Amino acid sequence: TTATGDFKVRDLSLAPWGRKEIQLAEHEMPGLMKLREEYGPSQPLAGARIAGSLHMTVQTAVLIETLVALGAQVRWASCNIFSTQDEAAAAIAVGPTGTPEAPAGVPVFAWKGETLEEYWWCAEQILVWPGGEGPNMILDDGGDATLLVHKGTEFEAAGAVPTATEEDPEEYRVILDLLRRSLGEDPQRWTRIGQGIKGVTEETTTGVHRLYEFARAGTLLFPAINVNDSVTKSKFDNKYGTRHSLIDGINRGTDTLIGGKVAVIFGYGDVGKGCAESLRGQGARVIITEIDPICALQAAMDGYQVTTLDEVVSTADLFITATGNKDIITAEDMAKMKHQAIVGNIGHFDNEIDMAGLERTPGVVRNRVKPQVDEWVFPDGHSIIVLSEGRLLNLGNATGHPSFVMSNSFANQTIAQIELFTKNDEYEKKVYVLPKHLDEKVARMHLDALGVKLTQLSKEQAEYIGVDVAGPYKPDHYRY
Ligand code: NAI
Repeated sequence: TTATGDFKVRDLSLAPWGRKEIQLAEHEMPGLMKLREEYGPSQPLAGARIAGSLHMTVQTAVLIETLVALGAQVRWASCNIFSTQDEAAAAIAVGPTGTPEAPAGVPVFAWKGETLEEYWWCAEQILVWPGGEGPNMILDDGGDATLLVHKGTEFEAAGAVPTATEEDPEEYRVILDLLRRSLGEDPQRWTRIGQGIKGVTEETTTGVHRLYEFARAGTLLFPAINVNDSVTKSKFDNKYGTRHSLIDGINRGTDTLIGGKVAVIFGYGDVGKGCAESLRGQGARVIITEIDPICALQAAMDGYQVTTLDEVVSTADLFITATGNKDIITAEDMAKMKHQAIVGNIGHFDNEIDMAGLERTPGVVRNRVKPQVDEWVFPDGHSIIVLSEGRLLNLGNATGHPSFVMSNSFANQTIAQIELFTKNDEYEKKVYVLPKHLDEKVARMHLDALGVKLTQLSKEQAEYIGVDVAGPYKPDHYRY
């Protein structure tokens, strides 16, 4: 990294390129631009100090500048070591009116290819604000910023930071080291930060899962809005987003022809459904693994073979994990795969594929093909290709989801931030989803751009099906 100030990015001279990409993306993000029009004059986020932890891409840049346009102060980090687009980070640091020589943008701490120590340092920078006041809102993706505040608060209450055990992942050791140093510097830092936060809005399935666990244990420190489970998020970003970006990542990483190959997708949830369609669209024969009978049956009815990894481990060409669960592909599985099989993960964390076990396999050799693409050669001479070291490949090998689908997700994020910040008294330390009328509002904001003409309900029809003419059009339990 070369450029630092109250920010740290790879190279500020990339800013003009990033700015051009941001301008193009704005046109593709009608939801965010309409929110700027609607809320710009009233500045509902004036006074909000948002700590944002979400992949620092071009689309996220448009989100950041939307939050700023609504009055917020923002500090930002990426939520993955490989997912930053350096030109977008540079453009955010420079800002629309600054120059690379005189940056005047948002404090952003993100570059592509961070170490784990750097990653958690960046997370700390968005939460520990210079000067007296800390953040009063978190915007999280995967829950790492929220986790740091909760763990810090927990250890400060105990007066000590535990030592990592053998079973703990390496990353946990890094977190503990950071918090140990912090405790030495200021024994109440995280408690204060936690108390100052009015709420968090969480982007993804895995982060939402963590929030419900805190809530169940009674340790959630502030209210949370689960953005993931807005219909216009998980049924769009997770599905149509991965349908675009999975294949993009595989192509940019390997340029291997997908047609005619056999691809295994682990998990047939929202992400798995998009991934399966993505590969089928390229002419692959797609096989699904599932643990849930409902999703397994769905996959079968959608025309996919559903089986176990053992049945296909030595014959399939591509293996993509999309479960949000751990230990999906083991080192022993990878040893059994055929020569130059491609292995990747699109779930939030890197524990779906046992990379540590692969590294420990006796005689295995790792050859770097290029950044985020490695060939792992086994002692018998056969090799496999692992994308993004087992981290989410659509952001590591490509640039994540395209703007239009992220406009839906980020419109939900922006609305959720406004909700929690402006109506904070109405929320307890629980996890909420946005009401359906706001979900429908997000969808509505994206119809014109696609030339969609909506049919208008008559008053009689509305009464007949028991809804209001203006919506919501479905009961909360409807599943889409
Ligand atoms: P989901 O809960 O809808 O789907 C996960 C599926 O995996 C479930 O159907 C579950 O039954 C299945 N599963 C769990 N354990 C399994 C196992 N051992 N073997 C086979 N299947 C198993 O979750 P969703 O929304 O599809 O998200 C999956 C992951 O992707 C999460 O970590 C989420 O945070 C992440 N995500 C990543 C995105 C990206 O751009 N890379 C975008 C959105 C979500």
